[in-house]
Amino acid sequence: MQILAAVPIVNMYTLAVLAVAAIFLPMLRRKRKKYPPGPAGLPIIGNMFDMPSQFQWITFANWSKDYGSPVVHARIFGQSVVVLNSHQSVNDLLEKRSSLYSDRPRSIMFQEIMALGTWSLPFMGYGPAWRIQRQMFHSSFHPNTVSSYRPVSTECTRKFLRQLHESPEKFRDHIHNHAGRIIMKIVYGYDIKDEGDHYVWLIDEHFRIINERCDIGSIFLVDYIPSLRYLPSWVPGFTFQNIGEEYRAVADELVDRPFEDVHALLAAGTAIPSIVSQHIEHVQQVPNITAAQQAEEYLQIKNMAATAYPAGKDTTASAISAIFLGLVLNPGQLKRAQQELDVVTRGVRLPGFEDRDALHYIDCLVLEALRWNPASPTAFAHRLLQDDEYKGYLIPKGSLVLGNTWALCRDEGMFPDPDNFNPDRYLRGPKGERHPAEAYVAAAFGYGRRACPGRSLALDTIWLTIAQVLAIFDVLKDVDERGAELTPNVKFTHGLVSQPETFACRIVPRSEAALLLLHN
Ligand code: HEM
Ligand SMILES: *[C@@H]1O[C@H](CO)[C@@H](O)[C@H](O)[C@H]1NC(C)=O
Ligand SMILES: *[C@@H]1O[C@H](CO)[C@@H](O)[C@H](O)[C@H]1NC(C)=O
Repeated sequence: MQILAAVPIVNMYTLAVLAVAAIFLPMLRRKRKKYPPGPAGLPIIGNMFDMPSQFQWITFANWSKDYGSPVVHARIFGQSVVVLNSHQSVNDLLEKRSSLYSDRPRSIMFQEIMALGTWSLPFMGYGPAWRIQRQMFHSSFHPNTVSSYRPVSTECTRKFLRQLHESPEKFRDHIHNHAGRIIMKIVYGYDIKDEGDHYVWLIDEHFRIINERCDIGSIFLVDYIPSLRYLPSWVPGFTFQNIGEEYRAVADELVDRPFEDVHALLAAGTAIPSIVSQHIEHVQQVPNITAAQQAEEYLQIKNMAATAYPAGKDTTASAISAIFLGLVLNPGQLKRAQQELDVVTRGVRLPGFEDRDALHYIDCLVLEALRWNPASPTAFAHRLLQDDEYKGYLIPKGSLVLGNTWALCRDEGMFPDPDNFNPDRYLRGPKGERHPAEAYVAAAFGYGRRACPGRSLALDTIWLTIAQVLAIFDVLKDVDERGAELTPNVKFTHGLVSQPETFACRIVPRSEAALLLLHN
């Protein structure tokens, strides 16, 4: 979902067109007031050349240091971008003034031409349609409901453990399939195939088009010169219409098809209970519902359901992968987690959710992964609905406001030696008092009214997966032909979702007895 965080990068062609267009555009409507500090920028284009195309969160954190302010401002053409680099500023603005700061960037390309804003919660503007979807999401994924999905997670995790045993070298694929399988099973009662699954293909297409095929230059252009959307698609250079059509075909199937399948299975009496089947049954039980009302309800269910997998799969997988990497680098932590596990299960059964309170170290691993490798390093961009003032500075209406989660998670005051994977940061006091650092990791799930509604499910999935993996396996450094250990690099990708770069590790059963737990 980096795309909402990405500040548009413009190619030279676009630039030329824009320079001409700019002459006709009333760019400097606003009288100069005091914006928060930031790089100076050029006339008209503003800070376009100061914006890095990758790892913006690092540059933003550097600006914050350079300009001595947690809140920094940059401008691209007329668009203000405000980055919040401290817990305090995020809390003051995105949390406390959440009703002003919860809109999303208005992108004609994403929201209208690709139509994402009509169905996908993360892209929807702040308003009644978003509120309905958000409520639907909440009702399906709040902590009490999520605990009823635990049998499904447990069953899926069993499958994951077997795969890890059969082909440990493919652990990254297994992790991704696992994270996706749990969501699909909970949402649709559908079991994804390990290879060649049509639904998985659709999601991959959806991301591919958003991520790669979009010439961001064109998006930018149509966003700044809205009348371009009426250009016919054969005009050279303006591929956005084609991309829009290509994308909508994928999205329509993604939204409709799995829903229709559940609907048909329900009618045949063979549906596996799921979020979607329950919602459909609920609608069917409403007395005297009109066809129009029913269609509207179905639309809401479909949209909610179709959002969960794309929003939840790679983010969850990223955190699980980061724990694997952290443990490979820190065998002492692996041992510590396993000792805690062995005390609780005595090695004769797999740990389950009922053991959660007794297995705090696993929670520490989860928290540390979310901090060390925030999957969404600048959350998704929020948009400010009206002029606001903060510490004497003007934050203009329409600003894109980014919480720099990456910087918050590397705040040395709260997290000393922040580049190290160190779950001990969250160890509780003798009476079980929580360490304050625990609360700060919430930033990994975003901010205010837009904060991730899937977090309970994500935390459940990651926790159970790690607890059960560590009960059975050691996760160790790979070795070369001569038996020397290979230490993986700690690098995280730039992309829709940030995750550890490819790394190798050895996943070996702890003992014959541990392996038996797999088959019980
Ligand atoms: C470790 C896993 C996850 C992480 C780190 C994560 C992180 C985030 C972040 C940073 C945001 C943006 C918040 C903001 O704009 O301030 C977000 C939004 C969202 N997440 Fe998650 N997420 C995770 C898992 C999930 C799962 C499993 C689901 C679904 C079941 C999900 C569904 C959503 C949705 C629908 C939104 C958009 C909410 C809105 O715009 O109102 N996420 N998530
Ligand atoms: C940020 O600052 C650090 C330390 O001053 C420097 O090493 C790094 O190259 C900078 N990174 C970027 C992307 O500006
Ligand atoms: C549904 O319609 C029937 C017949 O039209 C009517 O008798 C009944 O009261 C209605 N029920 C509700 C809950 O509106």
